[in-house]
Amino acid sequence: MKKIKIIAGMAALSSVLSLPLLAQKSSPDIFLDKCSICHGTDGAGKTAKGKKLKVKDIHETLAKMSEAEMIKVVTEGKGKDMDGFGKDFKPAEIKGLVDYYRSLGK
Ligand code: HEC
Repeated sequence: MKKIKIIAGMAALSSVLSLPLLAQKSSPDIFLDKCSICHGTDGAGKTAKGKKLKVKDIHETLAKMSEAEMIKVVTEGKGKDMDGFGKDFKPAEIKGLVDYYRSLGK
């Protein structure tokens, strides 16, 4: 009985430990998952939702906003439609996302 408990405990522990590793996705994957519904897979914001919310094309914002300004928007949110993702992602992940998003406008 005790042995089973230990094995179960180890299984639980190893799943907790491996989860963050498995959950670590690349920036393009996260963008596709969390951002493309509004910003589009190409960053142009021409999705149904993007058009409705008047999401801007990255080709226009790239020259107007710095990387730091965009990181602030993604971390803290802006307006009523752009949520802050500071709770969901680590600063390095947000920087990766913003860099990927900006690369779409180049
Ligand atoms: C529900 C739709 C929606 C989702 C999902 C969304 N955004 Fe936005 N995003 C917006 C809107 C609308 C704005 C413009 C806000 C404003 O200027 O008032 C915006 C603005 C931005 C900006 C600032 C530049 C600009 O165009 O104004 C960046 C950078 C950005 N979003 C990145 C992201 C990233 C990265 C994700 C995914 C983690 C994401 N967004 C998810 C709607 C969305």
